[in-house]
Amino acid sequence: MFRKPDWYEEWAKANPIRSSGPLVLLCTVGVAIIVAVGIILMANPWQTSTLQTGPRGLALGVIKIDANRTEDPTIAGYSSSEPIIPTGGEVLARDAYENAEESLGHLTKDNYDRLVTAMRSWTGIEDLFAGEENYQTVVARMMIQMTQNINEGYEEHVGGAGVNCYTCHRGQPVPSGIWFNNVPVNSNVSGWAAAQNRATMNSEYTSLPSDALEKYLNDYNVIRVHDLESRVDNEGTATIQDTERTYSLMNHFSNSLNVNCTFCHNTRAFYDLEQSAPQLNQAQLAIGMIQEINLDYLTQIEDVLPPHRLGPMHGDVPKVACLTCHKGYSKPLNGLDMVSDWPELTTTDDEVVYE
Ligand code: HEC
Ligand code: HEC
Ligand code: HEC
Repeated sequence: MFRKPDWYEEWAKANPIRSSGPLVLLCTVGVAIIVAVGIILMANPWQTSTLQTGPRGLALGVIKIDANRTEDPTIAGYSSSEPIIPTGGEVLARDAYENAEESLGHLTKDNYDRLVTAMRSWTGIEDLFAGEENYQTVVARMMIQMTQNINEGYEEHVGGAGVNCYTCHRGQPVPSGIWFNNVPVNSNVSGWAAAQNRATMNSEYTSLPSDALEKYLNDYNVIRVHDLESRVDNEGTATIQDTERTYSLMNHFSNSLNVNCTFCHNTRAFYDLEQSAPQLNQAQLAIGMIQEINLDYLTQIEDVLPPHRLGPMHGDVPKVACLTCHKGYSKPLNGLDMVSDWPELTTTDDEVVYE
């Protein structure tokens, strides 16, 4: 048999071959190829498609991740029933029940029962409207007026689908996607930096300011910060932190609707709202709607809610933002019609029109 010469053994010991480097590279490339082939065979679950909503280019191309276009699973838990159309001579709720809700007393007894049953299911509170002792009944009375006002006064925003209790509550007494004031976020530093540099739910887990929802959806701070002149030195010029706060709010918009910035903006000109998509106007209406919900309705129940429902830092009321209704879909509940069955919740009038 062939025998390696002695000099070879010695030489080989002095010059060992390092095979591990090329081997790792080879394996990595191999695994990458297998994964890539796998993704292609499975029809890429992270596939994106782009919808062009304006002139060619990236600035108005709405990128959609296909996996996000799934049906909202909470639709399955929604229950509705058709209105019982009055033919005349029905007993009204206010005559049938001594303690009928005043604002709903004009409904026929059958429709009143139907609505109360639905509201119990939508909020998951079984004894709602059973008596005044339960603070939830007092809150629900205000919630009815708030819902009617949203459908009546903000039709341009909620128009197609409308909202009822389920839009926010989804079967839970406390809706998801609510928020509380949480600034300062860091008690170890003073000054205005304490509004940021800590990942909180209100900052969408970024280092951006945590008080964007408070400033823009509760107070009336100005969102717009962009100026085409450089280094303008006017009274009221936006600071860097104002700009960061605007971006914090924009993150909330995008994440709440599960869309990117081009869903609303023409990103070649954020400052020029004329060039934006129609959704930007819809978002502008929502800002005003939410300020009204938070200030005219939710703030009014501060004394009614038990302490454990109030904010952990400031004892403030739970507040609404885009996420409270949208919950990660560009149209809440995929645009499900929430009001055709419930004319009682679309008007503040006593004249409910059943069709
Ligand atoms: C725009 C969103 C929204 C809509 C629509 C809405 N709610 Fe609410 N609801 C809230 C928020 C926010 C709270 C405060 C949460 C809390 O009490 O901690 C709340 C609280 C309540 C509570 C008190 C729950 C508790 O245990 O503290 C009741 C009861 C209630 N809502 C009933 C209703 C009814 C009935 C409707 C429909 C007529 C309705 N809500 C529609 C957002 C909404
Ligand atoms: C759902 C619609 C919507 C989405 C999505 C959205 N924005 Fe906005 N954006 C608005 C609205 C509404 C305003 C405020 C306009 C006003 O105050 O009149 C605004 C304002 C701005 C401004 C200030 C413009 C100025 O004139 O100073 C900037 C910058 C901005 N958005 C960036 C973004 C970025 C970045 C994203 C993506 C992370 C984004 N937006 C996502 C609706 C949206
Ligand atoms: C009270 C519930 C509610 C709140 C709060 C709310 N929305 Fe909406 N929004 C709706 C409903 C319902 C629709 C669907 C209307 C329809 O079907 O035409 C909608 C539709 C939209 C659309 C159009 C979507 C599309 O596919 O064209 C945009 C954009 C939008 N909302 C942005 C916002 C932003 C931004 C916020 C927060 C500032 C917000 N909304 C807060 C209920 C709400």
